Amino acid sequence: MKNVLIIGSTGQIGSDLTMKLRREIPEGKIIAGYIPGFEPKGELLESGPAEVVNVCDGKQIADVVSRYKVDTVYNLAALLSATAEKFPLKAWDIQMNGLINILEVAREQKCAVFTPSSIGAFGPSTPHVNTPQDTIQRPKSIYGVTKVATELLSDYYFNKYAVDTRSVRFPGLISYTTLPGGGTTDYAVEIYYAAIKGEEYVCPIGAGTYMDMMYMPDALRAAVEIMQADPDKFEHRNSFNIASMSFEPEELAAAIRKYIPTLKLRYEVDPVRQHIANSWPDKMDDSCARKEWGWKPEYDLDSMTRDMIGHLKIKLGK
Ligand code: SER
Repeated sequence: MKNVLIIGSTGQIGSDLTMKLRREIPEGKIIAGYIPGFEPKGELLESGPAEVVNVCDGKQIADVVSRYKVDTVYNLAALLSATAEKFPLKAWDIQMNGLINILEVAREQKCAVFTPSSIGAFGPSTPHVNTPQDTIQRPKSIYGVTKVATELLSDYYFNKYAVDTRSVRFPGLISYTTLPGGGTTDYAVEIYYAAIKGEEYVCPIGAGTYMDMMYMPDALRAAVEIMQADPDKFEHRNSFNIASMSFEPEELAAAIRKYIPTLKLRYEVDPVRQHIANSWPDKMDDSCARKEWGWKPEYDLDSMTRDMIGHLKIKLGK
């Protein structure tokens, strides 16, 4: 991995991943792909090349891949689960037509492709506890439908055309750089901001709703390590369960109150998000990722909470 195109570089994952790769691969070109309206700013803009790359425009992708001799594409453009329910056709266009545009460029120009899957690739009939790597995947949300199709299409391009596609199923991701938007797991980020600002947090997900979650540094490490792993050891490709922690809102609030005892939490459950959350795993089994490419998380709820609060206090000037 040397010359890397990150599509969706100004989003929650992209903004952190672009900076990590620029630090770790100084000899390479790490291109921040963005669409108008989501321009990179500050450090992200100043530390390396940036190009307009819309996933829905195959020619634009092909042009940037060829000009920079890109060997790896991180495909991070997506509508998250709750937003996708509002705009299902747009979600399909970005997630599926976008993916096939990238896979075609990768086939022609021989690059590797990482497209994240998600806990959203599972549904109500999936076993919720210790969700196996290979199990029932019948999601009901359009986000989930596109994630399952992404996994299948990525495997298809590997099997038929030897395109080096790899992927992980991300839990809800918690980070302090860029906010997620329109996801079911967003509450687990927003609650930290409220705690630090001294505001009451109104939680859209009900108490007792368990979901897999992960701190961004672990998620970024997974995204990089899987692309650098020895593929001879892979029995799977698209996509690996990865896990680090599972909690429900009361447990998260209690972990934050160890550092900010004043945090107040109230519930106004959003039926769309709650319905989606109920259909997702409580906790995934990630033993295949551990065995096939050495995945291992570093953060737990307490170490993440300490780190999040430290960084957010600086960011918010508190
Ligand atoms: N975090 C995403 C969402 O909530 C799931 O991958 O939509």
